[in-house]
Amino acid sequence: MKSIEELLGYQNKTVVITGAASGMAKAATELLLSLGAKVYVVDRNETDLPVFQFISGDLSKKVTIDEVVEQLPAKIDALFMCHGVGIGKGKEKFIQMVNFVGQRYMVEQLLPRLVDAGSVTFISSTGGYGWEHNMQHVGEVLACSTFEASEKWVDEHLDLFTDGQSPDPYQFSKQCVSAYVKEKTRAPEFIGRKIRINAIAPSFTSTALIKEFNLAASNDGTEAGGEKVMYDLFLKSWNGRAGLPEEMGYPLVFIGSDLFSYLSGQVLYIDYGMTGELDYRAASAK
Ligand SMILES: NC(=O)c1ccc[n+]([C@@H]2O[C@H](COP(=O)([O-])OP(=O)(O)OC[C@H]3O[C@@H](n4cnc5c(N)ncnc54)[C@H](O)[C@@H]3O)[C@@H](O)[C@H]2O)c1
Repeated sequence: MKSIEELLGYQNKTVVITGAASGMAKAATELLLSLGAKVYVVDRNETDLPVFQFISGDLSKKVTIDEVVEQLPAKIDALFMCHGVGIGKGKEKFIQMVNFVGQRYMVEQLLPRLVDAGSVTFISSTGGYGWEHNMQHVGEVLACSTFEASEKWVDEHLDLFTDGQSPDPYQFSKQCVSAYVKEKTRAPEFIGRKIRINAIAPSFTSTALIKEFNLAASNDGTEAGGEKVMYDLFLKSWNGRAGLPEEMGYPLVFIGSDLFSYLSGQVLYIDYGMTGELDYRAASAK
């Protein structure tokens, strides 16, 4: 029987991971390094981990993504798309560009370099839950075939993100990520070379990003006020706790590994049952 390290199969594999200067992707990178992977990190902030190469860049911009892609290796075994920004007034467009539009563009630029039977794994969010009920707008973004067309769509629909009816800008960006995973599962450019595409969808997790959510949720403008609102919303009903970065980052590494070689098209909710309960309630209400 092979060891768990051999089953995961990262020894000497080339891995590209975005957003790994902190949080979940940093935890994932620590595990990847311990498993012997040759890791390239892309982030707008520098990493303090001993990775093979760090590439700096703001991945909201096409020109920067092109520059980053040029510096990445010709052969990639596993690609992890993890960078993301939280909610914030005035950032409606930026959120779409970072969390989905730029990510899709970067994946499609790198796809020819993915080895056959390689993997692409995103970090979506429980915020993207229910994407299938918003297919009118999500479908329109997915149908945009270029970075420019997607950006134009966002520019023309900014009112959607502030109308108080539609999903908020963060939720919308993550709905697009989750829907993209499903859309591409059997697309020829993926299935044709047996490239797997999946995502994890974390809930409330203790990382730098959560500060942005706390401030956005706050009734009194303080982070502590927001923390209370978030606790009441997500944790109080089950006397729970926020997730830890490694509770998201480690499963991410597993999903992108050889151990999960038959898994594709899945958005794995890592939320201590939050969406499980929502699924059950929705089914019971029918
Ligand atoms: N923390 C949560 O509660 C939570 C819940 C669900 C999903 N997520 C998602 O998890 C992923 C990881 O976030 P995290 O919670 O570890 O937060 P984090 O802030 O610790 O990590 C995000 C990383 O992305 C990088 N980044 C952000 N914008 C960038 C840009 N334009 N260009 C390049 N790099 C950029 C940051 O520098 C940072 O290193 C994100 O996609 C986030 O949306 C987080």
